[in-house]
Amino acid sequence: MSDISSKKLQLGILLSGGGSNLQAIVDAIDAGHLDAEISVVISNKPDAYGLERAKIAGISAIGLNPKDFADRNAFDQAALNELRKHQVDWVVMAGYMRLLTSTVLDAYPNKVLNLHPSLLPSFVGAHAIRDALAAGVRMTGVTVHIANEIFDEGPIIAQRAVPVLQDDNHDSLAQRIHAVEHELYPEVLQLVAEGRISVSSGRVRIEE
Ligand code: GRF
Repeated sequence: MSDISSKKLQLGILLSGGGSNLQAIVDAIDAGHLDAEISVVISNKPDAYGLERAKIAGISAIGLNPKDFADRNAFDQAALNELRKHQVDWVVMAGYMRLLTSTVLDAYPNKVLNLHPSLLPSFVGAHAIRDALAAGVRMTGVTVHIANEIFDEGPIIAQRAVPVLQDDNHDSLAQRIHAVEHELYPEVLQLVAEGRISVSSGRVRIEE
């Protein structure tokens, strides 16, 4: 009998830290909300807890130390080799605190996602939650976008607002932002899995 089932979307996750978003993606797959598979998790921090989470979930976990590579391109080439070896279709940055070069981006045109804890283009950079609090905004949020060679730039797929409450401190606001990230990223990935995301003229189109 011929196999008419198509192969599931293969995700390659890049992370640098705790990996709570990786966990949310793993949980969404387990719960049947996300029709995809994570074929590899790669970190530029070999001791990142996110790699432990991957191992616990039975996913290939690879730590690459930038010190072992001559330059950024050599590092990204090693990451790309792993992505290819694991037959990754889309690259998903989940707390990956390192700029990707064209080495990876050109290999995955419009197929690299980033998650950012603000409503872009406000509060780019590594301290988006702190900066939103310092600016005194009443509303911040979460953005999922297609990555390019500039930090926190590229066509936006989805945004969800998170109000800043009167008595918020960094921890309380971060907690509510992360809770929204954990919902939004798997939802966007399901749109990707359904083949509903495309980019034209620098803007994202989501098929109804
Ligand atoms: C998230 O807030 C994400 O928006 C930012 O880095 C954080 C990663 O958190 N880019 P975690 O490692 O997934 O817990």
